[in-house]
Amino acid sequence: MEAGVATTARGQQYKTIVYVICMVAALGGLLFGLDQGFIANSLETLTAHYGFDVKAGENYSAILATGGIFGALLSGIFARFLGRKRSIVLAGLIFTAASALSALLPDLPLLSAYRFALGFGVGMASFIVPLYLSETAPAPIRGAMGTLFQLMITIGIFLIAVSNVYIAHAFPNPATSLSLMFLTVTFFAALMFAGSFILPESPRWLMLKGRKDKAIAVLGRTLSEKSEIDAEVHEIEETLHGPQGAGLSIVFRGYFFKVLLVGILLQMFQQLVGINMMIYYSPTIFGYAGMTGFVAMLTVPTVNMLFTFPAITLVEKWGRKKLLYVGAVVMLVTMVSAGLAFQAIGDVSDPSQIGGAPKMVLLISVIVYIFGFAVSWGPVVWLVCSEIFPLEGREVGMTITTMVNWTFAGLVMANALSFMKLFGNASIFYVFGAFCVLAVVFVAMFVPETKGVTLEELEMNLKRGVRLRDLGKVS
Ligand code: BGC
Repeated sequence: MEAGVATTARGQQYKTIVYVICMVAALGGLLFGLDQGFIANSLETLTAHYGFDVKAGENYSAILATGGIFGALLSGIFARFLGRKRSIVLAGLIFTAASALSALLPDLPLLSAYRFALGFGVGMASFIVPLYLSETAPAPIRGAMGTLFQLMITIGIFLIAVSNVYIAHAFPNPATSLSLMFLTVTFFAALMFAGSFILPESPRWLMLKGRKDKAIAVLGRTLSEKSEIDAEVHEIEETLHGPQGAGLSIVFRGYFFKVLLVGILLQMFQQLVGINMMIYYSPTIFGYAGMTGFVAMLTVPTVNMLFTFPAITLVEKWGRKKLLYVGAVVMLVTMVSAGLAFQAIGDVSDPSQIGGAPKMVLLISVIVYIFGFAVSWGPVVWLVCSEIFPLEGREVGMTITTMVNWTFAGLVMANALSFMKLFGNASIFYVFGAFCVLAVVFVAMFVPETKGVTLEELEMNLKRGVRLRDLGKVS
């Protein structure tokens, strides 16, 4: 076998650099997950060290989302002017510096500033890494790379949940364990930062900047045959002659505004069905119901990760809309049953006195709820948002919808526990349940089925004025 070439299970050969590209990009997804999942099993330790009350804990959690909004906003600019590779290097640097500085356990305002920076890195990575992959990975593995990013997020959430539990048990001193928790994130961030230097620049970006020779040199590193390189150069040239990335003014074009609303509402509902209440606060919420230990700490991240795997094949088999319906109905039923469990529990002052039945109902509801999200709204919303925008507005559309995701994620993170305190533990589950109902109505009325349709067909229908829910129908 030629040096630097590896063979996949299907016998397809790719150069080693292709695997490096995939791994570094996967680390981008992993860091998203590590930072998103960090709070759940560190909140107790953070509270012990920094003396958080409920509101302070929520504020510290939610500042990641604020950083995410800015990171997503600026990443489009970075990607265009700095280039894709240098933007990934920058995200790696921000991740590494902000998590290493957090490990020094500075005062709360500074620690919060570092979490804002981590959010900024997450916002950047969530935009640039998939973009880079779609432009650099060889065509036959591009689709798989897109889903790999999602999967890595849930693996990151799972990994940090397990390691934070382990660290908190092994090192009872909150200062020591908190430092170690941040250092775990630093380790993966440093891997991504170091790895990002080896990455080649995206050939598409190089061609965009008129550096065709360099683009061909990069393609020579990732592809084996001259014919493949020529075909790729030709394809890039074709797209560069087509409609180019439009500015913000595209939102005023009627056809674009319509799909933008679909993307915005999809991302809004993805958060308003309550997922990040579970991702961030499930150990706390289980604690309100008298449940502690491994089950309380690891159920949500484990189920979330495991059920992202079937989603990868189901989106192509069942289609996007069917999954969104099934997911929303499953989440509605389980939110109501979790609410009922908390109503049965009532206002007990001593959670250890709570009976087994409501605890069991709560646990099963949460497991089935997470299954419902992981297999549907988690991956499908990001996928549909990457499919519905016409080429010239894809960057603008994805930037805005990513910002919407972080805005509503922040809203949930910043208020979920306070809401429970103010209106009773059961209340918030019913609110999220109500959003599941609205989400079903919205999907039925406005969301197109994008399975098995090319992006060009969708775009043509959109510009012909076909109504939104029929955009995926090809005559
Ligand atoms: C959501 C995140 C969430 C994660 C959980 C993603 O699709 O956008 O907010 O934390 O799924 O797996």
